Amino acid sequence: MAAKSKILVLGGTGYIGKFIVKASAEAGHPTFALVRETTLSHPEKSKLIESFKSSGVTLLYGDVNDHESLVKAIKQVDVVISTLGGQQIDDQVKVIAAIKEAGNIKRFLPSEFGLDVDHHNAVEPAASFFNKKVKIRRAIEAEGIPYTYVCSYAFAGYFLPTLGQENVTAPPRDKVVILGNGNVKGVYVTEEDVGTYTIKAVEDPRTLNKTLHQKPPANVLTFNELVSLWENKIKTTLHKIYVPEEQILKKIQESSFPANFLIALGHAMLVEEAFNNEVDPSVSVEASELYPEVKYTTVDNYLNAFV
Ligand SMILES: NC(=O)c1ccc[n+]([C@@H]2O[C@H](COP(=O)([O-])OP(=O)(O)OC[C@H]3O[C@@H](n4cnc5c(N)ncnc54)[C@H](OP(=O)(O)O)[C@@H]3O)[C@@H](O)[C@H]2O)c1
Repeated sequence: MAAKSKILVLGGTGYIGKFIVKASAEAGHPTFALVRETTLSHPEKSKLIESFKSSGVTLLYGDVNDHESLVKAIKQVDVVISTLGGQQIDDQVKVIAAIKEAGNIKRFLPSEFGLDVDHHNAVEPAASFFNKKVKIRRAIEAEGIPYTYVCSYAFAGYFLPTLGQENVTAPPRDKVVILGNGNVKGVYVTEEDVGTYTIKAVEDPRTLNKTLHQKPPANVLTFNELVSLWENKIKTTLHKIYVPEEQILKKIQESSFPANFLIALGHAMLVEEAFNNEVDPSVSVEASELYPEVKYTTVDNYLNAFV
């Protein structure tokens, strides 16, 4: 059997990055994480970094803004996965330049992990954010770097513990605010499953130069379906407050950052149909179809923890 690809994660100490690092190490890939030396003294991140070490992850010190450290790290691996944060999307041009210089990378997965940015109908300020990811896609293609774009839609841990409600710490038990008519389908994937599916894709020829949609069928739900699932669990009918689109757009315009950005994300996800584009087989593949052996966590099961 061929040796497993060596994987470098950029942003491994971030929110989704740590799940990718863990999935990579657990799948037996020689796993490398580029870590900034200043992060070693961060109280929580230092614990995470220790846990990386005990899982056999090789730490490489560097910074995306330090070209030499990037090239040196990239030369040691076969695959680069970027989970750099929202503030660093543009900086990935530096990663692309380093990959070009290193010349050995078999697959690059840029920081995506959301909706399919080539097909969004988002309003500002979410639109500009998605367009930055689009720009990175085009730069990768222009350089001829082999890629996979991972669309994992809404991280379950971000959304389900509150059902996307503002200023709460648990799913609602009396009333629920629903953006739009609640009939647009959304997708919710646990962070562990994002990691598992992503790592399965890195050396799969079926995902080469494709968009990998992570849309496990039981987790493709309208907001109304999600609310009804929750209502059945708590045996309560919630008071539903529907917010018409015009009102959402007005609220986005009247709010300042980051509130306007978060509402615009909610609008893109829950009100705009574009989010739910069918998977186009010429450019896309779907993770649960490619990897039926993965027993993904269903939204139904996930919500049980909050009853
Ligand atoms: N689908 C969803 O629901 C959802 C939700 C959130 C995010 N996302 C997407 O997921 C992706 C990752 O976001 P995230 O929230 O997980 O990121 P994050 O928590 O902000 O983590 C960013 C990572 O990048 C590292 N980093 C920052 N600047 C760096 C530099 N100059 N050199 C090297 N490393 C640097 C950070 O390192 P330090 O630890 O040293 O700071 C950290 O590991 C983004 O594309 C975002 O849009 C999707």
